[in-house]
Amino acid sequence: MEPKTSAQVCGMGHSMKRKEDPRFIRGRGNYVDDIQLPGMLHMDIVRSPFAHAKIKSINGDKALKVPGVLAVITGETLAKYNLHWMPTLMSDTQMVLPTEKVMYQAQEVAAVIATDRYTAADGVEAVEVDYEPLPVVVDPFQALQPGAPVLRTDKKDKKDNRIFHWEAGDRAATDQAFAQADVVVKQDMYIPRIHVASIETCGCVADFDRVTGKLTVYMTTQAPHAIRTVFALVAGHVGLSEEKIRIVSPDIGGGFGGKVPVYPGYVIAVAASVVIGKPVKWVEDRMENLQADSFARDYHIHAELAAKKDGTMTALKIKTVADHGYTDAAANPSKFPAGLYSIVTGSYDLKRAFAEVDGVYTNKPPGGIAYRCSFRVTEAVHCIERITDVLAQELKMDPAELRMKNFIPKEKFPYKSALGWEYDSGDYHAALQKALDKIGYAELRKEQAEKRARGELMGIGISSFTEIVGAGPSKQFDILGIKMFDSAEIRVHPTGKAIARFGTKSQGQGHETTYAQIVAEELGIPAAHVQVEEGDTDTAPYGLGTYASRSTPTAGAAGAMAARKIREKAKKIAAHLLECSEDDLVWEPGKFSVKGSPQRSKTIQDIALAAYTNHPQGMEAGLEATSYYDPPNLTFPFGSYVCVVDIDRGTGMVKIRRFVAVDDCGNIINPMIVDGQIHGGLAMGMAPALFEEISYDEDGNVQGGSFMDYLLPTAMETPSWELDKTVTPSPHHPFGAKGVGESATVGAPPAIVNAVVDALAHLGVKHVDIPMTPERVWKILKEKGVAE
Ligand code: CDP
Repeated sequence: MEPKTSAQVCGMGHSMKRKEDPRFIRGRGNYVDDIQLPGMLHMDIVRSPFAHAKIKSINGDKALKVPGVLAVITGETLAKYNLHWMPTLMSDTQMVLPTEKVMYQAQEVAAVIATDRYTAADGVEAVEVDYEPLPVVVDPFQALQPGAPVLRTDKKDKKDNRIFHWEAGDRAATDQAFAQADVVVKQDMYIPRIHVASIETCGCVADFDRVTGKLTVYMTTQAPHAIRTVFALVAGHVGLSEEKIRIVSPDIGGGFGGKVPVYPGYVIAVAASVVIGKPVKWVEDRMENLQADSFARDYHIHAELAAKKDGTMTALKIKTVADHGYTDAAANPSKFPAGLYSIVTGSYDLKRAFAEVDGVYTNKPPGGIAYRCSFRVTEAVHCIERITDVLAQELKMDPAELRMKNFIPKEKFPYKSALGWEYDSGDYHAALQKALDKIGYAELRKEQAEKRARGELMGIGISSFTEIVGAGPSKQFDILGIKMFDSAEIRVHPTGKAIARFGTKSQGQGHETTYAQIVAEELGIPAAHVQVEEGDTDTAPYGLGTYASRSTPTAGAAGAMAARKIREKAKKIAAHLLECSEDDLVWEPGKFSVKGSPQRSKTIQDIALAAYTNHPQGMEAGLEATSYYDPPNLTFPFGSYVCVVDIDRGTGMVKIRRFVAVDDCGNIINPMIVDGQIHGGLAMGMAPALFEEISYDEDGNVQGGSFMDYLLPTAMETPSWELDKTVTPSPHHPFGAKGVGESATVGAPPAIVNAVVDALAHLGVKHVDIPMTPERVWKILKEKGVAE
């Protein structure tokens, strides 16, 4: 899309440099740990060495003797105020601090408040806890067995470890389609637990002012308003009412879904500040962050795909066991316990489908957060893109040809999927064709055949994903009953500059820039003169926050709608100034002029001044508007990725030689920022495909609880991504945009797995689970007799 505005105005389509970067590259960002308040105290947390154990006693006497330690807080302390349990965002319950037993290794057991961080850590060392180990359940399938120990003994009526059973689609019709199919393929796949591992860990500074009764919490949260409401609901009975709570999200060093939940540390720090009357800072260390914060994925999937002999897919059946750890602390919309997993029919015109998920408790930290994906979409895309390749292999059909044959044709949009979604727009054939052309697919297949003849292992993998982002239409989406919409408030100052505030919260995505570009596009005020603010509940309009690539589809849309309201008022003022009828005015970015007399015009800056100095009689002064935007539907970004890998027969090392990513997120606000989102997303998609996993031994001991053994990829492992795009606007979004933040993380893993399986397919390999570490791949090579 060619930009409609000048480079000076910098509306949509300009690769404007990020307005936030000058402070970051100068080291002047303001993160939670940068906040220093007078008299501030520090908190550290005692954590459980056991995955399941009764707490017989907690003795803080020795800790209290450490000079500088002021308090030891336990579950008993909080129980006096009924604050030892809290609700999760999925309406489950979670311990703030335990009074009876711990349920996972590294769970919070007690907290120590001291004059500085090091003294608090010394205090933690001195707290004595007497545990009595209990039987541990780490395997969700065992947890579902009759006779398995029931873990949530706090829930008096709970007789097993099943959290929920969820299903979508028509089981009978799907079974019938399977019975009539020429070909049925089946595949088990496991998508292991991984962690967002953002650069900044979680933390807060809780500051309760005893005189005003006001609580200010600076915290690492992606959803400040929702958190304020949750705090008011949980602690209203001890006097914290919502108007007395201010949540501030300062700069955030990466969230990726991991900073949506309420962690016990936040609540304990607040309780400590209220009781002691001083600010209390709590910032996790890296190991606490990796071991105890909410996890993503952990889906055990069984997929079945039915097709005709010619490759036409006819039906899909999915059964999944979801390991949620000891509590369901996912942040899904409340009607969707398995998130938006029902996007699992993907980009294909599948007439019949049925999907079911059982959520299960185990002795692990809470899981199920949407790590850079819109609530389980990564798992869904992995499933459909893998089983599609399994079918291609079974039919001995080229995977690109099979996809082209089954894609939803562009004429069928808006398209109603078998599992109930209405896809807004798409052109899947164009995206895949572009990716195949760019990578030189036919040539690569020839090269592969030659290499294979020489015994070399080269593979080509495709993933043609459909995302579902922008939660959401409030008729379907809510978090703890709060409807999901988002908001913007714009005020134009007399000199024609503006401030725009939003209900979302950037964690590195560049909202200060792109939101300013939206206002620039709609009003013609240069983006450089639009100041964007988010994250302070005392000033920003109420919104549901940033996760699940929802900011552009919701708050971005609200920004455009608020700007359009301002334009309507500006038109009235322009008509007054130009002494003509509103109907005689035409708008071009930045000014109204009289039809047929373009020299008679008023710029938005003239109009802004008049709004405060010379507005029509009877009109209110000022130029500002607010919008609470409730999208009519989600947006469905998509893309086609093609990956080429070479596998070393000596080490099992998978090397990504080339990776072409063709993305479509509708109309683009800032192409450079979108490319950056895709680069980062691809790296975060490669990471679990090749390296990352957090597993547990049978006693529930976490393996991978530090960066020594949780393998984050670095620049060394990351290939040079080759990007391209198609543009299929969303028909219902005010400026035709779809979200993009997560597309690449969702689309990349199956492209890489499909490439690895393709490299090994002639040896009879049908599937490889992730992460495809050198060890895992080498074992396959050894088994097939081709390891060197
Ligand atoms: O909710 P989140 O900001 O993580 O996701 P998003 O709405 O997908 O946006 C990520 C970044 O890309 C933001 O800065 C958006 O404004 C920008 N973007 C864009 O420039 N054009 C689009 N069509 C979509 C997003």
